[in-house]
Amino acid sequence: TEAELDQIHAFAVQLGKDAGNLLMEAARSRFSNNNATHDEKHTAQEFTEKDSAVDIVTQTDEDVEAFIKNAINTRYPSHHFIGEETYAKSSQPTRPYLVAPTTPTWVVDPLDGTVNYTHLFPMFCVSIAFLIDGAPVIGVIYAPMLGQLFTACKGRGAWLNETQQLPLVRQPMPRNAPGGCVFSCEWGKDRKDRPDGNLYRKVESFVNMAAEVGGRGGKGGMVHGVRSLGSATLDLAYTAMGSFDIWWEGGCWEWDVAAGVAVLQEAGGLITSANPPEEWATAEIPEAKLGSRLYLAIRPAGPSEGETAREGQ
Ligand code: IPD
Repeated sequence: TEAELDQIHAFAVQLGKDAGNLLMEAARSRFSNNNATHDEKHTAQEFTEKDSAVDIVTQTDEDVEAFIKNAINTRYPSHHFIGEETYAKSSQPTRPYLVAPTTPTWVVDPLDGTVNYTHLFPMFCVSIAFLIDGAPVIGVIYAPMLGQLFTACKGRGAWLNETQQLPLVRQPMPRNAPGGCVFSCEWGKDRKDRPDGNLYRKVESFVNMAAEVGGRGGKGGMVHGVRSLGSATLDLAYTAMGSFDIWWEGGCWEWDVAAGVAVLQEAGGLITSANPPEEWATAEIPEAKLGSRLYLAIRPAGPSEGETAREGQ
């Protein structure tokens, strides 16, 4: 029921705040001990490599996931839990979203942007999503170093710091989009040096976007900028805010996107599964299901030309 959903939402928001505060405490102790010896510092900043040298996990990821998982299991013992670090330790042969799509499910990344966290680049966050029938209906994203909390609950809109409704940037899409847009895309973790590989498609996508678009180059025909924050979740949050016009990544896991998708959709943005720039502007845009691994997000469109004219009168 709606009342139940509201309760779950309130619980998720508090959990996100608490978990984000834990991330911040951990970041402080990791980087503030100026009296530590070189060896102590080396130990404190340790991380473990998972699938590759850029796929890393810290003790903080694990501690914060354990904290969140425990809170959810205590409050909602019948719900299913999918977490990045729990999954990394398991030997599940299937994609995590397939585990129990019909059971109410939590999808959690305790620390999205782990590389940023280990370098004290502020683009890291906790990401908590709640799914019904495989679709994210609640999303909580908290970036404690930025002091930004993004929350969304189906039918209730998406919010920044619980007071400002998203999107904040409300101008219409540029007429010649993706010309005039800010595009974001992540490097991901697949760094295989292979022309048909994911990395090359990403680089190509960056170049396609940064270069003149579709022969319509020249004045106004190019994207305004190409960004890579190092956190897929925050990319989606900023697309929901309207700061980014387009975000694309191939190779994401469910926990990288679930909360961000809830926030984006509640803000009125669109999530689909397509490669830019050729496919993004088609009239028929299928909604991406979690688990597609390839995601293209488009920000809330802003007012139509008619509405803008009316507002201006
Ligand atoms: C990663 C970040 C990164 C994206 C990867 C993610 P993690 O998550 O979101 O920006 O490119 O696909 O796996 O490991 O920092 O939680």
